[in-house]
Amino acid sequence: MIERPRRLRTTSAVRSLVAETTLLPSHLMQPLFVREGLTEPREIAGMPGVWQQTEQSILDAAKAASSAGVKSVMVFGIPAKRDATGSEACNPEGILTRTVRAIKRELGDELVVVADLCLDEFTDHGHCGVLTSAGTVDNDATLRLYEQMALTLADAGVDLLGTSGMMDGQVGALREALDAEGHIDVGILAYAAKYASSFYGPFRSAVESTLEGDRKTYQQDYRNARESVREISLDLEQGADIVMVKPATAYLDIVHLASQLSEKPVAAYLVSGELAMVEAAAAAGYIERLPAILELHYAVRRAGAQIVCSYWATEVANYLKKENQ
Ligand code: PBG
Repeated sequence: MIERPRRLRTTSAVRSLVAETTLLPSHLMQPLFVREGLTEPREIAGMPGVWQQTEQSILDAAKAASSAGVKSVMVFGIPAKRDATGSEACNPEGILTRTVRAIKRELGDELVVVADLCLDEFTDHGHCGVLTSAGTVDNDATLRLYEQMALTLADAGVDLLGTSGMMDGQVGALREALDAEGHIDVGILAYAAKYASSFYGPFRSAVESTLEGDRKTYQQDYRNARESVREISLDLEQGADIVMVKPATAYLDIVHLASQLSEKPVAAYLVSGELAMVEAAAAAGYIERLPAILELHYAVRRAGAQIVCSYWATEVANYLKKENQ
C-alpha cells in the first residue's frame, strides 16, 4: 500500500498543517436583540444563552463581541407598540434606530452595525410587510415602507442593512433610495436565499412574534435550489454588497452554490432553531456542546461562506482567541 491518508492525521500539528478551512473571530457576526421598555435582560425561551437586551445592556453585549474580535453585530429591535403598518420601524426615535445610534456612538468604526430591515418585529400581525385588504402581503407597498425605514437607519449611522423580508425588488429599491439621499456608503447585506423554515421557531419568541400561519408566499420553498440561483442573481444585479443564505446547516448546498455564483462575499446564518437543537442535545448529554458548535461553524465556512452569522459568535471568538495564544 502506497497511499495512506492516515499519515496526514497522525498528530494535531500535521492535521493543522493540512487543514483547508479557517475560522477567525473576524468571520463572525453576532445577532443581538433589544427590547423596548425592558429593565433587566431576559433570556429567550428556546434559545439558551441568548437574551433580549435592554437599551443599556445591548451596549455591553456589543462591546463584549467587539473585544472578542467579532467585527459585526446584527441588531433586531422589539418595540413596545405595534400596528398594522409597523410604523415604529420608520420612527427616527424608535427602538431600533435609537439602538443603532447608541452602538455607533459607543464603538464607532470598530464594529460594523447591521440592522434588520424588515417589518415583522413592528407589525401587529407579524408579517414582514403590510397587508392588502384581502390579507396577502403587499409587495410594492411594503417596498415604500422599507425605503423609509432604510433612510431612517442610514441617518442613525447604520453600516449595513440586513434585508430579511424577501420582498421582490427590495435590494434595488433600497439602493436607489439610499443613493438618492447621498447614503452611498450604507451597504446592503441581502438575505438573498431565505427559506421558509421550521428552524426559525425560537426566533419568534425572541421577537415576541404574533404571526399566525407561515411566510410561504414570500420565503422560499425548501424543495428548490434553482430558485436560489435566481434570487441570489437578482440581489447581486440590484446592488447587494453581501449575499446571505439562511438557515445554514440544512442549506450548505445553497451556501456552496452562492459561493460559486457570487463575486461578492457570502454569509450564512445559523438560526435560532439550529442553536436550540445543539443546546438541547448538549443539555441532555447526547452531544458535546463546544465541539459540536465549532463543527457547525467550520462546516459553514467549508461550504464557502466568508461570514458566519451566529448566536454563538462572541463565545466562539473568545474560544478561538484563547486557542491561538
Ligand atoms: C425576519 C427574520 C426572521 C429571522 C431573522 N429575520 C424570522 C422569520 O423569517 O420568520 C430568523 C432568525 C432566526 O431564526 O434565528 N425579520
